[in-house]
Amino acid sequence: MESDRQILLNGMTDIGEIVGEPPYRFRRYLRAEDINKRVQEIAQKIRADYANRNPIFVGVLNGSFIFLADLLRNLAIPCEMDFIKISSYEKAIKSSGAVLMKKDLDADVANRHVVLVEDIVDTGGSVRFLFDHFMKKKPASLAIATLFLKPEVFQIKSHLDYVGFEIPNRFVVGYGLDYGQQWRHLPDLYVLMDEPA
Ligand code: IMP
Ligand code: MG
Repeated sequence: MESDRQILLNGMTDIGEIVGEPPYRFRRYLRAEDINKRVQEIAQKIRADYANRNPIFVGVLNGSFIFLADLLRNLAIPCEMDFIKISSYEKAIKSSGAVLMKKDLDADVANRHVVLVEDIVDTGGSVRFLFDHFMKKKPASLAIATLFLKPEVFQIKSHLDYVGFEIPNRFVVGYGLDYGQQWRHLPDLYVLMDEPA
């Protein structure tokens, strides 16, 4: 573990393919450069769709903060942003299904073009909750962007307007995603090696 810590502190993930300790060891799965390339592609699509609409991007805390930041820096169109916070997995690798509002929006999104920005869609429970929650605020339009999708689990793909990567049904961390609030800072994406019983 000591060597992993050193590697992380130095930002030299190239020589440390694995982080964490059993049974929560994670292996690097997707490189930052590949993530960043895909984020740029999504930004291009959104730019084409939202030019002259002054959209408001709503990041779903905490996981989406890095994706949202990278996305907005690649947009190059006038826009606004805000955050919303809902309950997450806490310290678990399986979704509980129950969703709680922890921090609602500050912005008034009535008659605005809203793009919800998620880190990952797993069961889809969060997205469904957020979709209903936002429709009540009467936006001019509502779209959902997620960087990762576990399509084996989530069946209602048509609700998602922008998807970065479809990934297998495995638990991942890094690039904003956590396990027990750890590992969000990793620039690459890592996958849990052994699914604990
Ligand atoms: P859903 O409601 O089951 O779709 O889960 C969505 C939320 O659970 C995401 O926004 C994440 O915060 C969290 N989550 C789902 N899968 C993972 C994962 O593999 N790693 C880390 N967090 C995850
Ligand atoms: Mg999340």
